[in-house]
Amino acid sequence: MKTISLQLNKAAQFLAANAIEKLEPQVKAAQDALENGTCAGNDFLGWLHLPSTTTPELVADIKAAAQTLRENCDTIVVAGIGGSYLGARAVIETLSNSFEWLSNKGENPVILFAGNNIGEDYLYELTEYLKGRRFGVINISKSGTTTETALAFRLLKKQCEEQRGKDVARKVIVAITDAKKGAARVTADKEGYTSFIIPDNVGGRFSVLTPVGLLPIACAGFDIEALLKGAADMERLTGADVPLAENPAAQYAAIRNALYQSGRKIEILANYQPKLHYVNEWWKQLYGESEGKDGKGIFPAAVDLTTDLHSMGQWIQDGERTIFETVISVEQPTHKLLFPHDEENLDGLNFLEGRRVDEVNKMAELGTQLAHVDGGVPNIRISIERLDEYNVGQLLYFFEIGCGISGLLLGVNPFNQPGVEAYKKNMFALLGKPGYEAESQAIKARL
Ligand code: PA5
Repeated sequence: MKTISLQLNKAAQFLAANAIEKLEPQVKAAQDALENGTCAGNDFLGWLHLPSTTTPELVADIKAAAQTLRENCDTIVVAGIGGSYLGARAVIETLSNSFEWLSNKGENPVILFAGNNIGEDYLYELTEYLKGRRFGVINISKSGTTTETALAFRLLKKQCEEQRGKDVARKVIVAITDAKKGAARVTADKEGYTSFIIPDNVGGRFSVLTPVGLLPIACAGFDIEALLKGAADMERLTGADVPLAENPAAQYAAIRNALYQSGRKIEILANYQPKLHYVNEWWKQLYGESEGKDGKGIFPAAVDLTTDLHSMGQWIQDGERTIFETVISVEQPTHKLLFPHDEENLDGLNFLEGRRVDEVNKMAELGTQLAHVDGGVPNIRISIERLDEYNVGQLLYFFEIGCGISGLLLGVNPFNQPGVEAYKKNMFALLGKPGYEAESQAIKARL
């Protein structure tokens, strides 16, 4: 089986000679600090060897819980926000048929996501949609106190109990949360829900290969063992003992830091497959929350191409030259479709007749790469063979370990997120949460 590969020359040409190789000592130090647990944030390194250490017993428990949900539900709502839903959504949307869920005629349940916003209309429309459906809920929150998720779970629990009865609700509500603390744990224990633990030493954005990601992915009908196998192979290929010259994640970390030092402050992750949209979203959280601190950090942006060439293409080609682009290139599509013939040929495209649609997409990708490089945009390409569990598992781990190394090269603690608390404090003060009286007065004086 192939492993993902990197093309760096079209980014390296924008840097001084040997700019990447010169970072080798720092890269090695970062790799060793992660492996030895001596870096900043070393109490959150539990993700590092998850692929190779996840036990068959845990996988079997996850598959059994997924089977119960699949047998008893036509719809499963995953309630979670940030790291507590983006990884699952990224994998499920990447591997799913793009349209099957609309008809719900497939053998898999419809997977919906909630608890990731406070939109009244979204939640109202969700509860309307669920009326009459045999739905279940996976409630995911490490802290168990996140407002968005707690609100959605209150609504979903009540509706599930009313619609399906308390006994069935107990069977089709599953909690993934802390081992001991938080509202989600207390409720799960009280109600007797099946539950899974988010390890203390795994932060939300690094949790896709824990039950946080694995249970929803298994519920959607995908092979979590193949996903873990792909991730474990990438863990081996990017280990602390693999030097920069042979280590794709270390190279990715090094070149993005070298580009940042040269004034490239924004990285645009681009895909040419709409199914990868939520991989972009997951990546944005992973890199944004890990690196954006202490007044530093590459801003992670993302585009779906060729779609966004018709909206953001002008900016990328011709705007301020502070960007670089990283493309996820999928070598083989899953299906085969040929460009059709048209008798009148009004669009002048009959020269493409009989050729694979993917060939057209690939030439768009190549043409765009060359155009962007000509426009002064360094271009990194990450190639993966196809969109299946094994390859996506590789990609997830590649980005995780790349992020750990990159954040340490940048000189930040990649594993905390102190800035996320600021809006919560203000929101609770504005809403008059007990205990926030002083903040409430101070904030009202500023309005
Ligand atoms: O990466 C993180 O830690 C955060 O984005 C969390 O995943 C997010 O805030 C959700 O937190 P929780 O799982 O505690 O509800």
